[in-house]
Amino acid sequence: MAKAPSQPDPRPQEDTVKYEVVDGVAWVYFNRPDKRNCMSPKLNRQMKIVIEDLEFRDDVQVLVLTGEGSAWSAGMDLLEYFRMAEQEGLHAIRSNQREAYSWWERLRWFEKPTVAMINGWCFGGAYGPLFACDLAYCSDDAQFGLSEINWAILPGGGASKVAAELLPFRDAMYHAMMGENLTGPEAAKLRMVNESLPADKLKERVLEVCEVLKKKDSQALRATKWAMRRVTEMTYDNAEDYLIRAQEALNQFGGLESRKEATRQFLDAKTFKPGLGAFDKSTLDKD
Ligand code: ACO
Repeated sequence: MAKAPSQPDPRPQEDTVKYEVVDGVAWVYFNRPDKRNCMSPKLNRQMKIVIEDLEFRDDVQVLVLTGEGSAWSAGMDLLEYFRMAEQEGLHAIRSNQREAYSWWERLRWFEKPTVAMINGWCFGGAYGPLFACDLAYCSDDAQFGLSEINWAILPGGGASKVAAELLPFRDAMYHAMMGENLTGPEAAKLRMVNESLPADKLKERVLEVCEVLKKKDSQALRATKWAMRRVTEMTYDNAEDYLIRAQEALNQFGGLESRKEATRQFLDAKTFKPGLGAFDKSTLDKD
């Protein structure tokens, strides 16, 4: 028997995202498993609130974005984000776009390192937050797709840009035009994600990565992740200049003290080697 037509999700906005902070890691979940975590206006609004709340909390050093249930996110909500807004008019369409794009933008420039932990379906609009995260790890049974072409739209909301940024040209073209999904290992081979792992090893690996990130100087990490994004759009000369300025700005945020202490541990105390891991930052007041 065919299922009844879909109805708007009656759950309150607060329920669409859940999170917990454990040992310095904020685990943030798309939380509409019954709807494969597709992004409704309510979810987009709530994500922005959650992300902004977590950004400056002292107990958060890394943010991991993952999904409850079988999906990471099945993209934009075709009912609540598209159809209902189109029935309401242009003001609703624009308002939905702004709410979605603005939390992806906040995540792209989040003050702390971010990791996408893709546990299942990842479609279309979900490429926005996927790209916004600095690192990405998926389970082997995850599926990635630009399904837009399958329902007669183009990959908007930045999705085309994400494919063009992350994939080689021919692969991006094929991916956007064919509407076929990539498995986790295929996505890893094409470098859409850092690694694909068996589902039962995924969290363990992400935790390992978080532990390494937690040991780094937080100000230097922020400067590094922002620099890596900025320089992709610069000429070599502009990048060189920007990086000098960015390092000088980092010095104003305690970077000089960190560097001096790290150098002391290497050159004088001989307790650490920069080529083999992070310096011991516990001796500093900050961080
Ligand atoms: N928008 C609205 N509702 C959705 C979406 C979505 N993107 N994805 C899933 N749902 C809903 C389904 O309509 C269904 O709702 P119902 O309970 O009211 O019937 C519920 O979530 C469960 O979905 P099923 O299709 O039954 O789940 P299944 O596990 O069989 O399939 C799959 C999962 C493959 C992800 C399928 O739901 C799907 O194709 N979703 C759409 C994916 C997509 O193309 N997203 C848009 C990308 S383009 C863009 O984001 C701009």
